[in-house]
Amino acid sequence: MVDLLTDAEFELFRKLIYNQCGITFSTTNRSILDSRLKERLREKSLDTVKAYYDLVTSNEDEMKSMLDSVTTNLTRFFRNQPHFDTLINYVIPHLIEEKKNSADKTIKVWSAGCSTGEEPYTIAMILKDILPAPYTFQVTASDISLKSLMVGQQGFYPEARIAGIPEDYLKRFFTKTDTGYQANKDIMDKIHFDYHNLQHDSGKRNLDIIFCRNVLIYFDEAAQHSVINRFWDYLAPHSYLFIGHSESLFGMKTNFEFLKTDWACIYQKNLKTN
Ligand SMILES: C[S@@+](CC[C@H](N)C(=O)[O-])C[C@H]1O[C@@H](n2cnc3c(N)ncnc32)[C@H](O)[C@@H]1O
Repeated sequence: MVDLLTDAEFELFRKLIYNQCGITFSTTNRSILDSRLKERLREKSLDTVKAYYDLVTSNEDEMKSMLDSVTTNLTRFFRNQPHFDTLINYVIPHLIEEKKNSADKTIKVWSAGCSTGEEPYTIAMILKDILPAPYTFQVTASDISLKSLMVGQQGFYPEARIAGIPEDYLKRFFTKTDTGYQANKDIMDKIHFDYHNLQHDSGKRNLDIIFCRNVLIYFDEAAQHSVINRFWDYLAPHSYLFIGHSESLFGMKTNFEFLKTDWACIYQKNLKTN
């Protein structure tokens, strides 16, 4: 394959993408950037990288499309079951205890980097199943990939993608159609899909749980650090952070405490309150 980008152009786009969203390209994954940009040039009928650079830096919509095209959106329902066992057996019982004397009985969850929605739907199905009244919940699901968000928002998944959903959940929360499965309104209503770039402030406060799994791996240390610091500000005094099982905050200057449960390792914010 002939490279599209010269070394100087690669450097230019590498910096642009990094500054926009924290995703890091290096010489090892340069070919991915090359092929994704080739596609964008073809779609825009442009012949030169320079013309595309001028377009993308002057047009916000094209910037969003370009960022969308360089993301990796691999996901699945019930990805890494031990995380959901931790949610069910540790996190939710602790949050229920925490909120028992409070007027606020809503558990607020954010699926940050939710891709096509399998993660927020998994969380919503579990919480709908296990939360006793008067507790309730809301899930916000965000990503920088507009194409992925659209899939999540539609809540329709072909047969091949529903693997991992337990049979009883599938029956209860989805309706089978000729071509796949449509999420039911009662579960869709619990999830709010939203475009959000993790490198920007979200304005969120008092969240109880953040899931940000398999997203940090695409960032370098500095970008990871800034995202994790923001998460601290978004979370309530006693709250929980799930990151991917191959990701870690080890060596990072952060106030999050490492928490080893019987099911999986997660992080907690545990501010001393009187
Ligand atoms: C591999 S998917 C992970 C999906 C899901 N969390 C999971 O673990 O299955 C990574 C997602 O992170 C998103 N992402 C990457 N950089 C981002 C950023 N700066 N802000 C928001 N989302 C981002 C990508 O668009 C992609 O959908």
